[in-house]
Amino acid sequence: MTATGWDIGAYGRRATAEEPYVAAVVGAASGIGREAANLLAGLGCAVPCIDRDSAGVEAAAAAIRDAGGRAEAFAADVTRPETVHDAIGAVLDRFGQIDALVNCAGITGKTAIDSHEVDLDDFDLVYSINLRGALVVSQAVLPAMLERGYGRLLHVASVAGKDGNAGMAAYSATKAGLIGLIKVMGKDYARTGVTVNGLAPAVVQTPMVDALPQATVDYMTAKIPMARLGRLDEAAHMIAWILSPACSFTTGFTFDMTGGRATY
Ligand SMILES: NC(=O)c1ccc[n+]([C@@H]2O[C@H](COP(=O)([O-])OP(=O)(O)OC[C@H]3O[C@@H](n4cnc5c(N)ncnc54)[C@H](O)[C@@H]3O)[C@@H](O)[C@H]2O)c1
Repeated sequence: MTATGWDIGAYGRRATAEEPYVAAVVGAASGIGREAANLLAGLGCAVPCIDRDSAGVEAAAAAIRDAGGRAEAFAADVTRPETVHDAIGAVLDRFGQIDALVNCAGITGKTAIDSHEVDLDDFDLVYSINLRGALVVSQAVLPAMLERGYGRLLHVASVAGKDGNAGMAAYSATKAGLIGLIKVMGKDYARTGVTVNGLAPAVVQTPMVDALPQATVDYMTAKIPMARLGRLDEAAHMIAWILSPACSFTTGFTFDMTGGRATY
């Protein structure tokens, strides 16, 4: 892989100004999404950056342009479908196509709470972003991908959705639901040229994790056989490959990124 374009052998084809590969990132203002946007741009992709944090996503796109990449910011809140449809419409107007999209929008909600004490309003909020929001994003982008007969759609789930993390009922349940949704969509579109996959990281140091109680971070980190946190660049590289043409015979699957915690 090079810093200037898709490596033909590893990634399927090269993205150029004449033949762009448009890889959109939802949740691009921070953390994993921002890192993925940076890497994708470095690989030569045109990167529409989408987030509800309009100032943050403007800054992320501007930083990519300053580094010589192609990026533009679009504001959308995945809890409000009309804003997502408008943003995807604007991306299509501006870039003409969307080859790939990674959805990194997610929140933990309140943590360190036993399930019988979960606040239902907080549960609904987490659900509306992590699970319903993922469906909203999918519904907005899939028609354009299906029309072209090509697409790579990726949702960032979590190992919490595979294993369940104590004290994280809303987060774990919605990520488990997302993994189920990914399985369904993989089968729905298996014959269309559009793949739908997930990525399930363990703890990666991001602003989302910075905001968690230290006891919650320690609990999650202690479960990782490699005995360290995941790195942003590790997440970004997996995302870039799953979004690439080379990842062509896998759909409906949630890839593991847990330093050995989940081996399935
Ligand atoms: N960091 C980790 O340890 C970790 C582990 C497993 C899974 N994940 C998942 O990875 C994804 C990214 O997490 P992160 O750690 O980079 O978090 P982050 O908080 O750094 O970034 C999340 C981004 O999503 C955006 N966002 C949140 N709600 C939104 C909404 N309603 N509409 C549009 N954008 C919205 C935020 O503005 C932010 O820019 C999340 O889905 C998270 O659950 C993270």
